[in-house]
Amino acid sequence: MTGVSEKTEKLLSTLKLQPVVPVLIIEDAASAVPLARALVAGGLKAIEITMRTDAALDAVRRVAGEVEGAVVGAGTILNPSHFEAAVKAGSQFIVSPGTTRELIHAARASDIPLLPGAATASEVMQLREEGYQVLKFFPAEQAGGAAYLKSLSSPLAGTLFCPTGGISLKNARDYLSLPNVVCVGGSWVAPKEMVEAGDWAGITRLAAEACALAG
Ligand code: 3PG
Repeated sequence: MTGVSEKTEKLLSTLKLQPVVPVLIIEDAASAVPLARALVAGGLKAIEITMRTDAALDAVRRVAGEVEGAVVGAGTILNPSHFEAAVKAGSQFIVSPGTTRELIHAARASDIPLLPGAATASEVMQLREEGYQVLKFFPAEQAGGAAYLKSLSSPLAGTLFCPTGGISLKNARDYLSLPNVVCVGGSWVAPKEMVEAGDWAGITRLAAEACALAG
């Protein structure tokens, strides 16, 4: 079994690939491969596919098997059975909106890293006790935004975040400029209408624009 610190390193190296991790809700598994290729072409290699649709597991499987350069993860993991199914489908990282004891238990038994969600100082402290140093701050804008997250950076120094929820090109820099932010997550790089229209070139443009936030 891989230790927590090795898994943290693995997770960090994935999250540091780019400033923005696309958060995808995929309704049709057939669109997953061209969509992931479009994002990778724009520079966004780490991709989170949320387990909110019937197509999600198949989408993870296809992207893991067919998209060169992509690092595919599964999001909206709420329990151990989601966790196991997502890993079996080929997820290289796992994201949850919050944390439960059962989920932490499942993550401990797996070699695949978990990015668990937290929104309060107490939740962060509990996850630190479990050895977690990299967390998802969710729902970022609604929970207090960049100012709130900034205020956690001194008392909870050493914990890094990937804020997600309500982030777009307009406010991403507010988060990315914080010392405790490694990257942000967001769905804005893959709008539903563009996915439905198969506008892959448009999505590559949005991805490239998001990727340029690193500069
Ligand atoms: C989510 O869980 O839906 C993600 O946090 C993405 O949020 P967004 O759609 O506001 O980017």
